[in-house]
Amino acid sequence: MTGFEPRIIAFCCRHCAYAAADLAGGSRLNYPESLHIVQLPCTGRVDVLHLLKSFEEGADGVLVAGCLPGRCHYLKGNLHARQRIDHLHQLLDRIGFETDRARMINISAAMGARFAELATEFTERIRQLGPNLLAVSAQSPATQSPGTTP
Ligand code: FES
Repeated sequence: MTGFEPRIIAFCCRHCAYAAADLAGGSRLNYPESLHIVQLPCTGRVDVLHLLKSFEEGADGVLVAGCLPGRCHYLKGNLHARQRIDHLHQLLDRIGFETDRARMINISAAMGARFAELATEFTERIRQLGPNLLAVSAQSPATQSPGTTP
């Protein structure tokens, strides 16, 4: 699809992925500008509802980026986040929504180049999938259901 720039929300743990993104930026490594980073104390704070709300509000893709296995500062936060992503995938699959639109990665603060690579790869995958047609904000007034407010 030409001209489509995906909107991606990246929920990043401040101890690892956020620092890796910062390192990538400081090292002048490019990663897509369309990545909107939300800093979290730990990916264990991510709830399935946050991810679904992101899609509802217009995100084309959602990335959850946490510490490497065994390196979470809250011990199991990244493992809980992984379980929630798995649960989200099951929910999305049931409604026929592409599960590839949500992904979890594990990374360390020193992996700036890897962060840029994974962010770029994810963005390319979302670009292939095209816009999120379930987004409420993607609906024009003419296509909204009766009774909904614009
Ligand atoms: Fe980084 Fe838990 S502190 S994922």
